[in-house]
Amino acid sequence: MKIIRLPAKLAAYALRLKRNQQSIGLVPTMGALHDGHLSLICSARKENDFVCVSIFINPKQFSAREDFKKYPRPLSKDLELCRKAGVDIVFLPEAEDIYPEGFGSFVDLPAISSLLCGKTRPGHFRGVATIVLKLFNITRADNAYFGQKDAQQAVVISRMISDLNLPVKLRVMPIVRCNDGLALSSRNVYLNKQQRQDAVVLYQALCLARCLIDHGLVDTQRLLLRMRQLIAKHQTAKIDYITAVDLNSLKPIKRISQGCLIALAVKFGKTRLIDNIVI
Ligand code: PAJ
Repeated sequence: MKIIRLPAKLAAYALRLKRNQQSIGLVPTMGALHDGHLSLICSARKENDFVCVSIFINPKQFSAREDFKKYPRPLSKDLELCRKAGVDIVFLPEAEDIYPEGFGSFVDLPAISSLLCGKTRPGHFRGVATIVLKLFNITRADNAYFGQKDAQQAVVISRMISDLNLPVKLRVMPIVRCNDGLALSSRNVYLNKQQRQDAVVLYQALCLARCLIDHGLVDTQRLLLRMRQLIAKHQTAKIDYITAVDLNSLKPIKRISQGCLIALAVKFGKTRLIDNIVI
């Protein structure tokens, strides 16, 4: 497994691979790898000649009051996991090589970036879209692997690929969960024992939604109310949003229909968790 730190070096390497007709699968991450990331890597391994995992905690997608500084950085464990998963290249750039002095170009998708998580995280998706486009360009990826866990991120990337005619195929993979249903997240390590127990309610609320819909409930307001009531039983949970939206536009829908997205963000102490299901 190669570790490459300089963008120009990876770009040159990727170009050589492309000239040799090798397909490249990219898995962008911020490290602190868990089974969710590994499921993306595993799919990339099956579908490409070369697999590149990027590990870069992108400062441009964190606001000043977010957890950039304390974001977990278990680098040697991450590298070991990549090695075991059969990764060919780990891209480990420094922030100053990604955003050198004078950097000034951004990708902005204001219509979808201002909804859901964008309401409380202004600038977040601009930072995500910008780094992901840079990673696409550096690695010349044929296929790029993202998790349904970050549903809005996947929609933003899909829109960017189509708006900018990028020659990348987006692969969105299912959410990997703990045994009790909590979606795996690098941020779960911040939860204390009580918060960790209570956090299971997110998945329970989504399962309740699915069950109510299966039994014929189509009124969005009534559905979201039932989910809110369930989550509110846990004192450590503070709801940021619970919503049912169209999967492409992310605009709220009044009546539940096939293919809609039910998404939520809930804070436990300072830790904000997200989860979703597609109906
Ligand atoms: P990160 O949070 O490290 O996630 C990397 C990828 O793993 C994302 O596509 C995310 O959706 C996926 N993922 C996380 N938890 C998952 C789970 N439980 N099941 C399945 N997939 C999961 O998302 C980012 O990093 C960054 O925004 C990034 C795209 C790297 C840009 O900086």
